[in-house]
Amino acid sequence: MAKALKVGVAGLGTVGASLVRLLSVHGAKIAKNAGRAVEVSAVSARDKTRDRGVDLSAMTWFSDPVEMARSAKIDVFVELIGGDSGPAEDSVRAALARGVHVVTANKALLARHGVSLAGLAEANGVCLNYEAAVAGGIPIVKTMRETLAGNEVSRVYGILNGTCNYILTRMEAEGISFEDCLAEAQRLGYAEADPTFDIEGNDTAHKLAILTSLAFGTKISDDTIYIEGITSITTADIQAADELGYRIKLLGVAQRTDTGIEQRVHPTMVPKSSAIARIDGVLNAVAVDGDFVGEVVLVGPGAGGSATASSVAADIADIARGDRTPVLGAPAGELEDYIRARMRKHEGGYYIRLAVYDRPGAFAEIATCMATAGISLESIVQRRNGTPYDVQDAAPQPVILITHETTEEAVKAALEVILSKGVVADQPQMIRIENMN
Ligand code: HSE
Repeated sequence: MAKALKVGVAGLGTVGASLVRLLSVHGAKIAKNAGRAVEVSAVSARDKTRDRGVDLSAMTWFSDPVEMARSAKIDVFVELIGGDSGPAEDSVRAALARGVHVVTANKALLARHGVSLAGLAEANGVCLNYEAAVAGGIPIVKTMRETLAGNEVSRVYGILNGTCNYILTRMEAEGISFEDCLAEAQRLGYAEADPTFDIEGNDTAHKLAILTSLAFGTKISDDTIYIEGITSITTADIQAADELGYRIKLLGVAQRTDTGIEQRVHPTMVPKSSAIARIDGVLNAVAVDGDFVGEVVLVGPGAGGSATASSVAADIADIARGDRTPVLGAPAGELEDYIRARMRKHEGGYYIRLAVYDRPGAFAEIATCMATAGISLESIVQRRNGTPYDVQDAAPQPVILITHETTEEAVKAALEVILSKGVVADQPQMIRIENMN
């Protein structure tokens, strides 16, 4: 058997400690699979004294990850530090520049610097593997980078954030408010230290930026993504969705259109019959539409120490085996420029919830505004909130509209006119409906 592959692990949080444990439990299996043993020879973290429940005594300790990246003691540098700059970026660049393979779970780093890091890896003849960066334990990077190579992808979409899916699932199942569900997600340790990144959609956007590049062979473009989080979703929307045959999910969607590629993250109405609608709790799911294969859906744990370590270990095994694939599916120098399709040109159905003053002619006014904007309505339903019918101009009543396929700019224009007519009390709620064939 070839000599052991020496691994240095930077960052010994939940994932780092799980990786050390996994390699000790499944070391023999991985060695048989890869034709060579994998051995953690060095580690780096801030606090040397902390008990992480794993034996680190045989490993060389580095307090500086950059120093470890430059050390001759390792063949593979595993970056589990996090962040799109600072020590994570410095150490990854140092390792690649020295010709050391890198495995990372860092979606923020790849979303920001992925193309430049891919170029550096390829120039130095080493791997940059990142299965754990997108949807944790789901093997979606390998699937897109290798297994679906014989397809032209038209769309990739998914539930890429377990915290948001947990919150939406509980809001639906138990009728609990957004705030209470978020507090529970934090208590259970699902949410990031700063939950804003989860609930405002940034975490999903980082993962989507990577998937887009893999799907379409384009340069990563993380600052052109349309992002809307889940903070405006109410139990009223969730109930209405249920009655109309939908569930609400935070999706990241990348789709080829006539004008370019759409990258969007937003709460989405998905038909209850779709595979994605059935993904509950902290699970993630990614669906890829390929021209030859059709739709492929992968489901699994998107976070957590063990699941994420499983993906990191697979990346290390690939390196041990000698598998070499261009970092982003095509060599960095051959990636196409990303052409952004503007959100206002987005086409689809829309759910709109209006708080309408209950007076004669209000419905007619709303329907006229929609018709003038060229929007065809599938349904319009008033959901009385308990005010007696004979009280005119009393509390506004919720009215739900479902549109046929239209454009975002038409919907926005119609809503602006409706607001100017004084028939609605608040800003309308608007949720896009995703076409799932
Ligand atoms: N906080 C993320 C989630 C996991 O809730 O899915 C790491 O990206």
